[in-house]
Amino acid sequence: MEHFDINKVRAEFPILEQLVHKKPLIYLDSGATAQKPLQVIECVNRLHRELNSNIHRGVHYLSERVTEEYEAARECVRRFIGAKECAEVIFTSGATAGVNCVAYSFGEAFIKEGDNVVISEMEHHSNIVPWQLICDRKGASIRVLPFDEKGCLCIDQLDGLIDERTRIVAVTQASNVLGTRPNIKRIAQIAHAKSVPVLIDGCQGIVHGQVDVSELDCDFYLFSGHKLYAPTGIGVLYGKREWLEKMPPFMGGGDMVATVSFQKTTYAELPLRFEAGTSNYIGAIALAEAIKFIQRFDMAEIAKHEHSLLKYAEKNISNIDGVKIYGECKDKCAIVSFNIEGIHPYDLGMIVDKLGVAIRTGTHCAEPVMTHYGVTGMCRASFGIYNTIEDIDVFKSALDRAVGMLRN
Ligand code: ALA
Repeated sequence: MEHFDINKVRAEFPILEQLVHKKPLIYLDSGATAQKPLQVIECVNRLHRELNSNIHRGVHYLSERVTEEYEAARECVRRFIGAKECAEVIFTSGATAGVNCVAYSFGEAFIKEGDNVVISEMEHHSNIVPWQLICDRKGASIRVLPFDEKGCLCIDQLDGLIDERTRIVAVTQASNVLGTRPNIKRIAQIAHAKSVPVLIDGCQGIVHGQVDVSELDCDFYLFSGHKLYAPTGIGVLYGKREWLEKMPPFMGGGDMVATVSFQKTTYAELPLRFEAGTSNYIGAIALAEAIKFIQRFDMAEIAKHEHSLLKYAEKNISNIDGVKIYGECKDKCAIVSFNIEGIHPYDLGMIVDKLGVAIRTGTHCAEPVMTHYGVTGMCRASFGIYNTIEDIDVFKSALDRAVGMLRN
C-alpha cells in the first residue's frame, strides 16, 4: 500500500493543473462528479486504441479479451463492495438506472394496490421519483422517514412507519446535501425484523469510506462510477441473489436472453438478465481501474484526510456573518451545504467561480431537503481525495470577497 501523499495524488489529476478565469482551479464539486486520475484516463484510452470490441458476442481475439477484462472488472467490484458472488453484481449506466431497475422490476413482482414504500426525507430525486412512478402505477403509497433540524435521520420512527403492507425501505447511505450518514445497519435490522428488504443509495457513501454490503446486510445497494473517479455512464447495482432471482427483467434486448422465439423467450442467468443491450464495457473496466486507484491507498487514511477537510471547512465557513450550515449530524461525509443571509446562492456561486472556485448551487436534486429548511436553494462544497487545506483557504477568501461585493 502506498503512503497517502496529497501532492503526489494531485499530480495524478491533470484537470486540476488548469487555470479557470485566469485563476488556479479549486474544484469543490466532487459530490456532483469527481475528477479522473491519469490511471483511469489512460485505461479508457488504451481500451479504445487496443481492445475495443463487443463483449460476450464474438469468438475473435478482441472480443474474448475485452470480455475477460469486463468480467474481471465485475470481480473487482464484487470484492470492493463485499458481495458474495459476481451474479449479484450488475453493471448499469449509473445509480439512477439502478434504482429504476429495482423500482420497476421488484415493484412489478412485489408491490400491489394498497402497499407502501418507505423512503427518507433526505433522498436524492433518483431515490424518490422511481418509487413514485411504480406506486402510482400500482396504487401504492410512499411513506417518508423524516430528519430533524440537525439533519439526522429519525431512525427511531422507522419501526412505526413499517407495517404489514410495507414492501421495501429505500434510503441513502450519505445525504448529498447534508452529508449525514444514517446508521444503515440499524435501518436494515429494523426493516428485516419485519421481513422488509432494504435498498441503499451508495452514491456519496461509497466515495468516503469502505463499504461491505454483507456487513451492512442490505438487500440492494447501488452507486455511480463517476463520483468514484471513474467515467460517467457506468454504475453498479448489487442485489441479493434471493431477490434478483424472483424479479422479472427490467429491459429486454440482446445479452439478457437464453433463447428467443416468437412463441417464448427464456432469460439469461444472473447477472446478465439485467444487462440488456451492449453494456458500457469500457466504463466497467475503467470503474475497476478507479477502484484500483483508490486501493493503492489505505481507505481509512483517505477518510481521515477528507474528514479533516470537512472540519476545517465547517470551522471557516461558520465564521462568516449570517451563515447557516445545513447538516450538523455527528457522522458526516465531506460535504458542507450552507446559505448566507441576504445572499442568493446563485450569486455567490457565480462570483466564487470567477475567482476559480467551483461549488454547486441550487436544490442539489433534493427539493424535499430545501422544503424542510424553507429555502429555494443552497451552496455546497464537496471534497474529494485531491482537495487540500489550501483549497479551503482560497475558497474562504473567495467567499469573503463575494459577500463583501453582494452586501454592499
Ligand atoms: N447528485 C449529484 C449532486 O449531488 C449530481 O450534485
